Amino acid sequence: MTRRYLAAFAAGLALTVSACGGGGAGTGSDGAGSGGAADGDITVGVAMPTQTSERWIADGNNVKAGLEAAGYKVDLQYANDDIPTQSQQIDQMITKGDDLLIVAAIDGTALTSQLSAAKAAGIEVISYDRLIRGSADVDFYVSFDNYNVGVQQGTSVLQGLGLLNPDGSPGTATGPFNVELFAGSLDDNNAQFFWNGAMDTMKPFIDSGKVVVKSGQTSIDQAAILRWQQETAQRRMEDLLTSAYNDGSKVDGVLSPYDGISRGIITALQNAGYGGGGQAMPIISGQDAEIASVKLINDGVQYATVFKDTRKLAEQAVTASSAILEGNEPEANDTETYDNGVKVVPSYLLESEIVTKDNIKSALIDTDYYTQAEVDAGQAS
Ligand code: BGC
Repeated sequence: MTRRYLAAFAAGLALTVSACGGGGAGTGSDGAGSGGAADGDITVGVAMPTQTSERWIADGNNVKAGLEAAGYKVDLQYANDDIPTQSQQIDQMITKGDDLLIVAAIDGTALTSQLSAAKAAGIEVISYDRLIRGSADVDFYVSFDNYNVGVQQGTSVLQGLGLLNPDGSPGTATGPFNVELFAGSLDDNNAQFFWNGAMDTMKPFIDSGKVVVKSGQTSIDQAAILRWQQETAQRRMEDLLTSAYNDGSKVDGVLSPYDGISRGIITALQNAGYGGGGQAMPIISGQDAEIASVKLINDGVQYATVFKDTRKLAEQAVTASSAILEGNEPEANDTETYDNGVKVVPSYLLESEIVTKDNIKSALIDTDYYTQAEVDAGQAS
C-alpha cells in the first residue's frame, strides 16, 4: 500500500470512528496504523526556494494555511536559493516520514535522487510552480500558463512603447525603439517558457526593425540572470549601458521577466540619469506584482508587471494534495504542455494578468491582494 492509500485509509477510519460517535477521532496522535489517526496525523512537506522574494513567502504562508485548514500538518522549509540545502531538506522530509511533498525547486534538474527516494517510500510529489525535470516521479504540477506569462511580458513592452494598443491592435508608434532583453534563471524551467512567449510576441517587431536590440544580445543564454538576482541584473544593465549606449543613444524599453530583476535594471538606469533631467525611464516589464514594484508602477517608474494570484495557486496545491491524500487523482486542466524530459506531467494551470498603473485598483486592490495604503507605501503590512 502506498503512503497515500495508507493516509486515505487512516482518514477513512477517522471518519468512520467519528460517524459512529466514538471518542478520539481527530485527536489521535499515534499513527496511521493504530486506527486512531485523523487528517491531523498527516504531514505535508512543503519545500520553497527562497525568502528573498516576497512571492515565495506568500506562497509558503498560503499553502501552509490552506493545508492546515484542511486538517493536515505542514513541514514548511525555505532553502535560501541554495541547491544542497533544498536537497537536504527534502531528504529530511522523506526520512521524517512526511506523507506528501510539495516542491518549488531551485534547480529543476537537481532533485532526481530525492524524488526516486520519495517514490520508493510511497510519497507522492507535487511540483509547485516550477516544473521538476528529468524525473518520472513527479505526480502533478500546479502553475500558471507560463508561455502566456511571457506573451504578456512582451505585450506589455510593446503596448508601453505604443507599438500595440491595449486591445492588441497595431499602435500608431513606428519606432525604431532600442529594447534590451532579460531572461530568468536557466535552471528554472519557467525561464524558457517566459522567454519563448515574450520573444514570439516581439519577434515580428524585431524583424520589421521597429524594435532594435542594440546590444545584439538576443539569445536566452546572453539574457539569463542566474537565480533571478536583482544585483546580477543591475550589473548586466550597467554593462549594456557602457557597451552599447556610450554613443549618446538611449534605451527605450527593457523586457524583464521578474519584478526583482526589473528593480535591478531600474537602479542601473537611474544611476545613469534615466528618470530625471528630461530623460524618460524606458518601458520596463516585470512579473509577480511585488509590492515594491507595484509602487514603482504607480509612480510611473516601471511600466507593467504580470500579476499571478498566488492565493489561487496555493488553493490549487491544497486541492491537489487533498485529492492525492484521499487516494484520488487530482484534477488536471492540461495534460500536454509540461513534458519534463521523461514524462508529460498532468498539470493545473492558472491565468495571469498584465497590471499597469491603469488597473492596479481593479486587479490588486479591489481583489484584496493589497490595500491602497500598501501600494502607496510600497510595503506590505
Ligand atoms: C516564477 C516567477 C518568479 C521567478 C523568480 C519563477 O519560477 O514562476 O513567478 O518571478 O520564479 O522567483
